[in-house]
Amino acid sequence: MLRLKDKVCIITGSASGMGEAEAFAFAKQGAKLIIADQNLELAETVANQIRSLGNEAFAFQVDVTNIIQLEALIDFTIGKFDRIDVLLNNAGIFDKYTNSLETTEYLWDKIFDINVKAIFRLSNLVLPHMIQQKSGAIINVGSIAGLVAKMGGASYTASKHAVLGYTKHLAAEYGQLGIKINAICPGTIKTPMTAKMLETRPTDKIPLDRFGDTSEVADLAVFLASDESKFMSGACIAVDGGFTAV
Ligand SMILES: NC(=O)c1ccc[n+]([C@@H]2O[C@H](COP(=O)([O-])OP(=O)(O)OC[C@H]3O[C@@H](n4cnc5c(N)ncnc54)[C@H](O)[C@@H]3O)[C@@H](O)[C@H]2O)c1
Repeated sequence: MLRLKDKVCIITGSASGMGEAEAFAFAKQGAKLIIADQNLELAETVANQIRSLGNEAFAFQVDVTNIIQLEALIDFTIGKFDRIDVLLNNAGIFDKYTNSLETTEYLWDKIFDINVKAIFRLSNLVLPHMIQQKSGAIINVGSIAGLVAKMGGASYTASKHAVLGYTKHLAAEYGQLGIKINAICPGTIKTPMTAKMLETRPTDKIPLDRFGDTSEVADLAVFLASDESKFMSGACIAVDGGFTAV
């Protein structure tokens, strides 16, 4: 049985890395997809590949910091499918471990704009539809940098802690309206964002002694999007090979 059959899912940042893996994993489970990314060329490639597998998928170019483009994304999705079942807020950027004294206000604001405020903007656009449907799932991509220090710089660490706080707020406010809101906290995962850093980094502080694969995060995202997790809300789940357990 397909676990996401006919669920309409928007995934931001799904033209590459974890978002791309999530898009393929969702498609494999029967989801109808909007591949929302600032990189239209890569988003089209992902959507075309998913369509060639027999699933419905559309690429949509959006900068998640631009409210006009986000409104257009929601209008496009409703125009195509007339509902939104899952919003996966995955788009994010890294601050390259910049410590507080070296963090400019420009960097801080940019990191927060993409990693946190975009989730607030999109959630507020999607929630009215989910409230009307009396169902829906929002999944926010946090990080282990939202659980502990030293897995990013000042602004990234603060932004990912904010994602988890906002996730809990949403869960508390909208659960009674039939909407579940959870967060994923990936550990170190091999993606274009981390490829260069991981060339020289040891794995001995990770109990499973390796970096994660994008498919391993995507598996959790499928579970949180599916009805299998229907009693879960406000959870912030680490997929980190045990890193935050020690
Ligand atoms: N890779 C890791 O080890 C790791 C660990 C923990 C958390 N994360 C988080 O996972 C998420 C995905 O990371 P990734 O490693 O796959 O990154 P990535 O750089 O490989 O992919 C990010 C995608 O987001 C898109 N994007 C960036 N800014 C955007 C914007 N303003 N508007 C629209 N799209 C935008 C990019 O075009 C890209 O396709 C991020 O939120 C990141 O913070 C990653």
